[in-house]
Amino acid sequence: MQIQPNISLKKYNTFGIDVVASSFVEIKSIAELKSIISAHKDFFILSGGSNLLLTQDIQKLVIHLNIKGIKTIKEHDNHVYIKVNAGENWHEFVLWCIDHGFGGIENMSLIPGNVGTSPIQNIGAYGVELKDTMYELEALEIESGNLVTFSNASCSFGYRNSVFKNELKDKYIITNVTFKLTKEAHNLNSSYGAIQSELEKENIKKPTIKDISNAVIAIRQSKLPDPKEIGNSGSFFKNPVILKHQFRQLQHKFPEAPHYIVSETEVKVPAGWLVEQCGFKGKRYGDAGVHKKQALVLVNYDNATGQEIFELSKKIQKTVFEKFEIQLEAEVNIL
Ligand code: EPU
Repeated sequence: MQIQPNISLKKYNTFGIDVVASSFVEIKSIAELKSIISAHKDFFILSGGSNLLLTQDIQKLVIHLNIKGIKTIKEHDNHVYIKVNAGENWHEFVLWCIDHGFGGIENMSLIPGNVGTSPIQNIGAYGVELKDTMYELEALEIESGNLVTFSNASCSFGYRNSVFKNELKDKYIITNVTFKLTKEAHNLNSSYGAIQSELEKENIKKPTIKDISNAVIAIRQSKLPDPKEIGNSGSFFKNPVILKHQFRQLQHKFPEAPHYIVSETEVKVPAGWLVEQCGFKGKRYGDAGVHKKQALVLVNYDNATGQEIFELSKKIQKTVFEKFEIQLEAEVNIL
């Protein structure tokens, strides 16, 4: 463990934004993490850097969490409990589970980022969320340096939300996550339209967890840019939830507006659709742009600054609000 001065963070964030950390340290164990946070009070935790827009240089110690390791902690007839350290790459962990025949997270294939940050925003895709299989997690309480276990219920998971984005924000560092997965009788979720058509295309009638994962990978690759090729952070905005009566007014003007019923009183409208309706899809402003196949994803074509991407996001929010009176909220963390 060595603190290094003036390190570019370009390769540590999937947007590929070139800002500098005045000091930087890579952490490979809980012991190292405990020792560094006891000696430094002003720091920023950087994990997979996949849900982050860096708009300026960071004048505090950047702690890059790289604690690795996956182990089986207990097994019952149809269930297995797998404890995964925070620095494991999410998608590699999904593939590891599929190789071992463990089911439950295959719909979340190819989501960028690391395991340790996955509970913070309760990652999700194609009808499945992290909260569906997360059993518990361990986190280091920054103030005391103690390890604390959080059950699934105590994480207060919601749509792209958890206690770690609210009342416990910046109070804990997640060090490992335990998942409860199935060994044989898997609860496959292939109800999502795009998965169905992908399976039909491949003529698969009785899908395995591997088939579902492959279908999800094919769908994502067809419309989401690969951060290794074009910098991005996945969905930049959350899908807004609006009141039913507001949605009825919207539907009056735009009868084709896609939507999902959330509750008796609320409707979720895809942000990608709102952004596309405002004419932003595929637009490019210098090196900052809106992806041509999915308007919810902002991209860095090469050397955009974080500030340029941020300005673009503001412009989109303003235009969407003027047209629809809906306030889009960023899903990525902006620093
Ligand atoms: N749509 C458009 N134009 C676009 C994009 C979408 O009109 O450019 C409309 C389409 O009508 C489509 C609907 O929006 O039917 C929904 O689109 P899609 O199924 O692609 O999903 P999404 O709502 O855009 C959400 C998640 C994704 C996740 C997918 C699949 C959020 C903010 N995003 O996107 O998550 O992969 O569903 O489950 O909830 C991420 O968080 O980084 C992410 C990619």
